[in-house]
Amino acid sequence: MTLSFPRRTAAAAVIALAGLLAPVAPAANASISTPQAVAAPDIPLANVKAHLTQLQSIATANGGNRAHGRPGYLASVNYLKAKLDAAGFITTVQQFTTSGAVGYNLIADWPGGDPNQVLMAGAHLDSVTSGAGINDNGSGSAGVLETALAVSRAQLQPTKHLRFAWWGAEELGLVGSRYYVANLPAAERAKVSGYLNFDMIGSPNPGYFVYDDNVALEKVFKDYFAGLGVATEIETEGDGRSDHASFKNVGIAVGGLFTGAGRTKTAAQVQKWGGTAGQAFDRCYHSSCDTTANINDTALDRNSDAIAHAIWTLATGTTTPPGDVYENVADVAIPDNGAAVTSTVNVSGRTGNAPAALSVGVDIKHTWRGDLVVDLVAPDGSAYRLKNSSNDQADNVIATYTVNASSEPANGAWKLRVQDVGPQDTGFIDSWKLTF
Ligand code: TRP
Ligand code: ZN
Ligand code: CA
Repeated sequence: MTLSFPRRTAAAAVIALAGLLAPVAPAANASISTPQAVAAPDIPLANVKAHLTQLQSIATANGGNRAHGRPGYLASVNYLKAKLDAAGFITTVQQFTTSGAVGYNLIADWPGGDPNQVLMAGAHLDSVTSGAGINDNGSGSAGVLETALAVSRAQLQPTKHLRFAWWGAEELGLVGSRYYVANLPAAERAKVSGYLNFDMIGSPNPGYFVYDDNVALEKVFKDYFAGLGVATEIETEGDGRSDHASFKNVGIAVGGLFTGAGRTKTAAQVQKWGGTAGQAFDRCYHSSCDTTANINDTALDRNSDAIAHAIWTLATGTTTPPGDVYENVADVAIPDNGAAVTSTVNVSGRTGNAPAALSVGVDIKHTWRGDLVVDLVAPDGSAYRLKNSSNDQADNVIATYTVNASSEPANGAWKLRVQDVGPQDTGFIDSWKLTF
């Protein structure tokens, strides 16, 4: 019972917020009664660590690494493949050639589920040549592997079809995942409802970073960590620096987790998460000391459990699949105490009207949010008030609003309109997005 409390509170807050918007949403909001997904099992940390021990042994026996084109890479693929085959997965090894060597992606399909709704989760399995790559990215590889094995142990019968993937040659520029996406026929690509990426999830001085590329997928992870009482931040250490970019680039909804690479942990982050300020999240990033000693067990444990939570939530629930995101990331300056400015998102290729729960993600950097009046303007000019000016002396408006836009045709130029109605403080629209 207590477990359902935070969830109720969050839902109530969304409904309350929706109620503030004009036109007013109907009181009975269907999204309150979404059926619950089957609860995910705990992923045993010992099992995840046992996979890391095996990957370390493979590196040690093969010149100290598991890099593309080196024997330690194929040995890593074979280790995972044997486990997945024994657990009842249909595995495929996809070959490609880059930098003069053959590379391999390992794909594992769990039989069953709706073939028209494929949920994918993946991790790159290659290391750099300088080390064993246990945090980067044995950690993500092992977390995804153990989640797949948990699917088998549970003999899960998900609503969606589940596909797990381990990519080759990520370290050479996302080569394996790009190859997979490029060679996926358009009809198959259209069936992939989401891709979740796990690259570095056991950093020794960890942060808890969630990808913010898709609001629905982001929420699944944020809710999980909120339930643990662990603060998260948006992943910003190089957008597009891992395999999710290969999927995002073709319009597939992506999400994922990350515990930090070469960037330095700040004092504020140490307040949230512990660890050492002024030190990298992973001091052994891309170096020879990225061994089994280079893992924070708590981070690895929490993130592995979060992978399972996401798979169970997204694949077994009948909740709305992650929506299609339309975003404008160009900065727009907001003049101080001046005229309204707008940022446009063009929506095309949809049929019918916008949803009753249109999600509007707003990221405005401003030194006094109380000055700001924010509206969503539909293509026909009708305005939906997201936020009024107030006495709210905090900075920034980083929020997701839900608008009942069911009377508006989906296609056309949607605008975020922002006006600063008070003197002194200024800022800019950093980005905003609509999720249909
Ligand atoms: N494997 C990535 C790399 O070597 C690690 C990384 C850096 C990363 N920044 C990231 C992974 C941001 C996810 C998100 O570059
Ligand atoms: Zn790397
Ligand atoms: Ca102002």
